[in-house]
Amino acid sequence: MRIVFVKNLNVDEVIKKNVLNGDGKILLKAGTKITREHINYLKSSMIVFVYVEDEMLSDVRIDFEMEILKEDVLNKMPRMFDEIVSGNYVESTEALKNVETLVDHIIEEGEVNTNLFEVKAYDDYTYIHSLDTSIMASFLGISLGYDENRLKELSKAAILHDIGKIKVDNELINKSSDLTNEEFSEVRRHAIYGLEILKSAKGISEEIIKGVAEHHERVDGKGYPLGLSGEQISQFAKIISVCDVFTAVSANRCYRDRFDPKEAYELILSGSGTMFDPVIVNKFRETFYVYPLGCHVKLSNNKEGYVVKQNKKFPDRPIIRIIEGDNQFFYEFDLLQNTNVVIEEIIM
Ligand SMILES: [Fe+2]
Repeated sequence: MRIVFVKNLNVDEVIKKNVLNGDGKILLKAGTKITREHINYLKSSMIVFVYVEDEMLSDVRIDFEMEILKEDVLNKMPRMFDEIVSGNYVESTEALKNVETLVDHIIEEGEVNTNLFEVKAYDDYTYIHSLDTSIMASFLGISLGYDENRLKELSKAAILHDIGKIKVDNELINKSSDLTNEEFSEVRRHAIYGLEILKSAKGISEEIIKGVAEHHERVDGKGYPLGLSGEQISQFAKIISVCDVFTAVSANRCYRDRFDPKEAYELILSGSGTMFDPVIVNKFRETFYVYPLGCHVKLSNNKEGYVVKQNKKFPDRPIIRIIEGDNQFFYEFDLLQNTNVVIEEIIM
């Protein structure tokens, strides 16, 4: 994806992100092939930039495919959870195949979707949260060198990690604040409930069950339900734990204030060695970028620009195209070469 001034836009280029006007109304949808009329329309609507597909990439189609797959899994999740809870082996195996399809897609696409920023744009509804956790976990699994089978096991564990919440009173789940001690420990019991559900559902591997049962354990032993530490915790659980916290924090922030992916990202890094396994946190750093390509940002030197390139292994220090003089000229600014400057905010 790249950013193009509307005045330089060519016919037949493909719009990569929805073009919105100041009121948030969609003027052109992602995937639209530009015509002369579109260019005139954008100009008359005072649109200065658009995001377009890079010629050599066809990831508009790919992203759509991911969205369609996600939606499909999402629609089938309530049924999938029900089948597993009621122990219907054939149906639950069938339902979990949807997750496999998603993993197949992720394996095919490699790095295309590893932008943390994209993860946040949902509410914290359990199914969506579980799905996001599963997708993130799959990317981490790839970085850890998992083969296809193990990756599918991991993503199933991740999508099922909160299945135990089904047995917890919904009111308690949604309450989240001002819980009494008793209520709090009931909510925490969802890890044990998850273990029980998966144990009685046939055909779920021991590794998946551990991933679910231990996803709130911490490497320093201060987690629950058992207070396991370090090597006692399964690797699946350690991966799920990082992805679970990241997606949950991102979703919550989204409600309250303007979302800052850096904050959620820092929270993961700062939990290394206490909440999280340092090996997993390092992989997390290597795998995901904080700011996606095309993201409009403001820097601490008061300049504004767009993320145009990532620096491998430096997820929060991309290369920014700075725009100056009423969009008259621009230049590239590498945050890796200019370590005294940071991204201060994302401009929506
Ligand atoms: Fe949980």
